[in-house]
Amino acid sequence: MHKDTREILYTEEQIRDRSAELGKQISADYEGKDVLMVGLLKGSVPFFAELAKHVTLDVEFDFMRVSSYEGTESTGNVIVKKDIDVDFKGKDILLVEDILDTGKTLYTVRQMLLEKGAASVEIATLLNKQERREFPIQAKYVGFEIPNAFVIGYGMDYNEKYRNLPYVGILKEEVYM
Ligand code: XMP
Ligand code: MG
Repeated sequence: MHKDTREILYTEEQIRDRSAELGKQISADYEGKDVLMVGLLKGSVPFFAELAKHVTLDVEFDFMRVSSYEGTESTGNVIVKKDIDVDFKGKDILLVEDILDTGKTLYTVRQMLLEKGAASVEIATLLNKQERREFPIQAKYVGFEIPNAFVIGYGMDYNEKYRNLPYVGILKEEVYM
């Protein structure tokens, strides 16, 4: 365990098993359809890779990078740094994210994709902090519900560190105090 980790919440094995369950569910829900999996860079990468292995449909991969700024408006403060490359009009999109927090990022991105003609946009997130939600958005596929603690690993960072840890853990407070 990395010295800055206070506690491990979910191990690599637990994440793999849960991803397999979600992949099964996704494969059943989208039966007969093609799915465009869109990962949000950079945090979703490990979960995206694990989840995709358990989806038994024909899927296409793409990635977006957005950054979010503090503000009071409900939309307009999410900036697209890298957009989806493929034409997704009429396609079923599955947005893949590491963690759903206030919901600002995914609410805004989902609205943008629907406005641009996606047939449907659902969300798969490794973690959900339900008590932090401020925007009207729910993930159809949730790996784990977590309390409001700052987590790292399995794609998630603090100042760009710890993304490579093979587990989800809680960061020691002394690191950011
Ligand atoms: P919103 O508020 O838009 O935020 O749902 C989602 C993004 O916030 C980041 N986030 C975290 N990142 N540990 C992290 O490493 C956390 O505990 C955490 N909580 C929120 C994350 O980038 C996510 O995409
Ligand atoms: Mg993120």
